[in-house]
Amino acid sequence: MSLLDDPNKTESLEGLAITASGLDRNGPTLVPVDRYISPEWAAIEAEKVWPHVWQVACSVDHVTEPGDFYEYRCGWISILIVRGDDGELRAFQNACRHRGNAICEGTGSGLEELRCPYHRWAWTTEGKLWQVPNRKGFGHLDNDDYALIPAQVDTFGRIVFVNLDMDAMPLGEWLEGIPDDLSWCPLDDYRCSAQVITPMPSNWKVVAEGFSETYHIQGIHREMLGHIDDVDAPQKLWHRHGMSYQNYGVPSPRLGKNGTPEVVWTTWLNNMGERLGIPKDTPAPDVPEGLTMQDVIAQGIIDHCASQGVDISMHDNVRICAISQYNLFPNASMLFMPDMFSVLSSRPGPTPDESQFVMMSFRRVAPGAPRSTPLTAEVPAGTDFGFVMNQDVGIMKTAQRGLHQPGLTHLALSAEECRVINLHRNLDEWCGAGDSAR
Ligand code: FES
Ligand SMILES: [Fe+2]
Repeated sequence: MSLLDDPNKTESLEGLAITASGLDRNGPTLVPVDRYISPEWAAIEAEKVWPHVWQVACSVDHVTEPGDFYEYRCGWISILIVRGDDGELRAFQNACRHRGNAICEGTGSGLEELRCPYHRWAWTTEGKLWQVPNRKGFGHLDNDDYALIPAQVDTFGRIVFVNLDMDAMPLGEWLEGIPDDLSWCPLDDYRCSAQVITPMPSNWKVVAEGFSETYHIQGIHREMLGHIDDVDAPQKLWHRHGMSYQNYGVPSPRLGKNGTPEVVWTTWLNNMGERLGIPKDTPAPDVPEGLTMQDVIAQGIIDHCASQGVDISMHDNVRICAISQYNLFPNASMLFMPDMFSVLSSRPGPTPDESQFVMMSFRRVAPGAPRSTPLTAEVPAGTDFGFVMNQDVGIMKTAQRGLHQPGLTHLALSAEECRVINLHRNLDEWCGAGDSAR
């Protein structure tokens, strides 16, 4: 029997810490492959999920000043996020009330009004219609009847979320226990450096799930085993969302005697040396008596931040090295560290076999630092995203091909993949899937 077959058993997972050592299980959780390849399932998601969930759109740095705007796209959904002349952040469905044209594309600044380029209807940055060329031809047309259609927008730290559903619960409630869990983190003291969007030849869930478990570290990221404890990485589930706490700067227990301090150092520099700001081939320093290589690395990160005027010395050494990862239903993963964080999300594409992968990167700054101007770019498939991310992206292509083979009917998931399971349990609820998970 699978977790998806037995809702009571699923409930019992909530709030538990689950590690690679596992949980008593009677068998794998089975998920039908249809969810990844069938246009019918994608259509259900397009109707039941995407118009109703809170979604990561952009950073506060994209829309800080009056006149800043950002167009968020997710499948056919297009939402315009605008900082109004009054300083308020607003969101609108990106559709002209004349013949529906999308009013703005991309991101930018200096908007004084929202003017559709097609026939030049114009709205204030608050969404009020104020100008209609050749108005007489429409007969009586009341501006108040043709305001832009609003959407919900809210922020969590420096992350902007949107929701098309004006009746959806507030973002703070949607996030469940995540804000409390992140109480150690000064969420406002980060700025966005980049948002990169790239096409992926796989379903959006294949992408999201690639960032929802650490099981694959011993598969495709074996070079990371030198500096991460992938075996005792506790996970937690709320109802919609999940988290994984990953201790970095220590070797995987899988390495046994081979997990020496030198291995921790060299693999760290190879995979995340930029956090120390030193060349990848810097020889391993001596570890002072009573300290560990994790302490040495943590001090290196503190020093590197200090050299840029950023004090992170208030965090302990384990926290400085560790990653706290939050998987947000349905499609986003936020990876927090004291010196940086990133948000990885996937958006559905025109077919179930296509999606967009979006990476947003943030750096810690001194309190009160000015906004950043994030590099925002769409880049082609095949772009080099760095060694580890290239491994993730590479496997997402072959994963989608395998899912199309007619003999494969279900995925078989471990308790260690509980955040993937939780995504499907929530999809069951949202899509009214009922028995399809059996
Ligand atoms: S479609 Fe926008 S003004 Fe005509
Ligand atoms: Fe990965």
